Amino acid sequence: MTKAMTVRKKEAVIFLNTSQCLTENHDPSTHGPVKQSPPPAKIPVAAFMIHDTICPMIFDMDSLSPGDRYRILASLVTPRPIAWITSCDRDGRPNTAPFSFFNVFGSNPPIVAFAPGNKDRHTPKDTARNIRETGDFVVHMVDEPLSQIMVATSASLPHGTDELAQHKLTTTPPEKISVPRIIEAPVALECTRHSTLEIGDNRLIIGIVHTVHVRDGLMDEKGYLDNDQYHPLARMASPDWYARTADQFEIPRPH
Ligand SMILES: Cc1cc2nc3c(=O)[nH]c(=O)nc-3n(C[C@H](O)[C@H](O)[C@H](O)COP(=O)(O)O)c2cc1C
Repeated sequence: MTKAMTVRKKEAVIFLNTSQCLTENHDPSTHGPVKQSPPPAKIPVAAFMIHDTICPMIFDMDSLSPGDRYRILASLVTPRPIAWITSCDRDGRPNTAPFSFFNVFGSNPPIVAFAPGNKDRHTPKDTARNIRETGDFVVHMVDEPLSQIMVATSASLPHGTDELAQHKLTTTPPEKISVPRIIEAPVALECTRHSTLEIGDNRLIIGIVHTVHVRDGLMDEKGYLDNDQYHPLARMASPDWYARTADQFEIPRPH
């Protein structure tokens, strides 16, 4: 933990106003509350005990290093979907890599976005470079049988290395764009680049989805998903944790 984080944690105790903390309500042997009194408004619900005081851990993102910010956000903002992306350079050489700073953001037009960083300060990762050169890419969703290969394709390799061939993945020509798609993946979205946002050191590529390929048996003929069949892998705490999505439940929305 960095110095900045430690200082901030102490400040958090002061910020909470100790007279409002529930010290008198704690059982020191269990560090749990012994009677139920509503917490003062200033104390967040998600709080935990330190030294008989209810204290949140507060990270001042403005004063942390980019590495610490990454670790905190990438560990807490989970689960995230994983986009396993194929792209080609201007000479047609294919590439694949996973990205979990990724999601879908709309349906009219259907858009996705993901955030490939740089290999070093001045060199974009191959996926970003290829999409800048050709404008085309395919997003694949990943399920557990593909998880080891997906992670293997995150290795940083020289530009032009064909990870698809290296990992014996089967590809097929896409319908509308110039990039192959991985047949083993349960879902593939053929996309073209709409725009690229650069915010500080971040690069956000926004793509329009033109064609969606779904493995047989995942959806019925009306396009409704069979939850028992589709279990995409989720990214959890950085760097190496994942979650299965087989344990799902339904909450109907209010009318
Ligand atoms: C599950 C997973 C998710 C990842 N998400 C991202 C991400 O969102 N952004 C990023 O820049 N790198 C991410 N990476 C690292 C890239 O996959 C890695 O840097 C890869 O070498 C990039 O390949 P490329 O240079 O062929 O594009 C992730 C790695 C894994 C295993």
